Amino acid sequence: MAVTKDKSSDEWHFSSSQYILSETDEKGIIIYANDIFCEIAGYTIDELIGKPHNIVRHPDMPRIAFKGLWDDVQSKGFWTGIVKNLRKDGGFYWVHATAMRKVHQDGSVTYLSVRRVPNRSDVESCISLYAELKSKE
Ligand SMILES: Cc1cc2nc3c(=O)[nH]c(=O)nc-3n(C[C@H](O)[C@H](O)[C@H](O)COP(=O)(O)O)c2cc1C
Repeated sequence: MAVTKDKSSDEWHFSSSQYILSETDEKGIIIYANDIFCEIAGYTIDELIGKPHNIVRHPDMPRIAFKGLWDDVQSKGFWTGIVKNLRKDGGFYWVHATAMRKVHQDGSVTYLSVRRVPNRSDVESCISLYAELKSKE
């Protein structure tokens, strides 16, 4: 098994040699996800393709974080941040994500995201920051 669950919580982990990849269309609909994405999120590939990326949105994430993601990928072409994601079974996993815009030769746009294991200290900072931001929304 490439991904593992904490014994004492609903948090899931993947390894530092793994990268969770996905690609969306301009509206954030998933058009590609790799095997690790499926495993860590607990979905089959068929359950992900064609679905909005908010299928893995965790309720602890403040809305402003995703506003930042969308604003930055559209204006600057990339965004990096720490995200808590929701699994199909209600568990969760933290990622260090980099999302970027890809402009194709025909002018169409897709968005890619590459996620790696985050530093634990960054996760700890985000737990309190996101709780504070959420409480203000
Ligand atoms: C390339 C890309 C990757 C994304 N990855 C995630 C992700 O891992 N988790 C997540 O909750 N939202 C992700 N989003 C943002 C979602 O599209 C969505 O904005 C977010 O889940 C908030 O949902 P809402 O817009 O319905 O409020 C991603 C968006 C893009 C363009």
